[in-house]
Amino acid sequence: MRLQGKVAIVTGGGSGIGQGIAKRLGCEGARVIINYRGSEAGAHETRRAIEACGGVGEVVRADVTKMDDLRRLVDTAWEKFGSADILVNNAGMEKRSDFWDTPEEEYDQQMAVNLRGPFFLTQAFVRRLRSAKKPGRIINISSVHEDMAFPGFTAYCCSKGGLRMMMHNLTVELGPLGITINNIAPGAIVTPINKALLEDKPKLEALLQKIPLGRLGTTDDVAGMVAWLASDEASYVTGGTFLIDGGLMRDYHEQ
Ligand code: BGC
Repeated sequence: MRLQGKVAIVTGGGSGIGQGIAKRLGCEGARVIINYRGSEAGAHETRRAIEACGGVGEVVRADVTKMDDLRRLVDTAWEKFGSADILVNNAGMEKRSDFWDTPEEEYDQQMAVNLRGPFFLTQAFVRRLRSAKKPGRIINISSVHEDMAFPGFTAYCCSKGGLRMMMHNLTVELGPLGITINNIAPGAIVTPINKALLEDKPKLEALLQKIPLGRLGTTDDVAGMVAWLASDEASYVTGGTFLIDGGLMRDYHEQ
């Protein structure tokens, strides 16, 4: 029980990677604010899974693109559980379109969910910690595409690249407050975000060829790293991006 006594906020905790993370943090002893926007049933499933291992979860609907919702998320943690020690900026979305066809709304939406949301939620999280003079942990679920090109997903890559620079900057700004910040860069993980890919056999085969470990990742693969970064064992770890991609980022070869 590495996270006993801690309170965690996980955005997008009703499906995919966020669901796996919220369950893991809850089962490691943290009380968890399980945020969702659309996946209400999934969020309650997350809560039940946490309860099944003896933990506590609170489901909160909030849209990370809305400032009032972001503040309410942090306030709920403090009101219900008396603190918020760990923030996992997980909620994310992606849309495929060629650069020359990308509509303004799709660009705005991806930036709002993937970058603006984490920016202002982190701000609300830090403001409370700063006035309470408490340390904290911030973990952003970024992507291998905070660095690596992903043709057809330029807006998505811009948002993840921005998340990378946000983390670099906040490492310096928040370090003196005792707050660490790290990014996790998942590769291809089995979740609803890549449903189209999972259903396209030839594309999936081609991708598997590029993954040295020869398989897609699971939400558990990501959740384990989050739990470690949130734990006391990682108290000196800040400013890093941790790849969880089965080697995808390193696999360049000429045929
Ligand atoms: C994307 C997935 C993609 C993976 C590897 C992730 O950031 O969300 O759609 O399969 O990167 O390219």
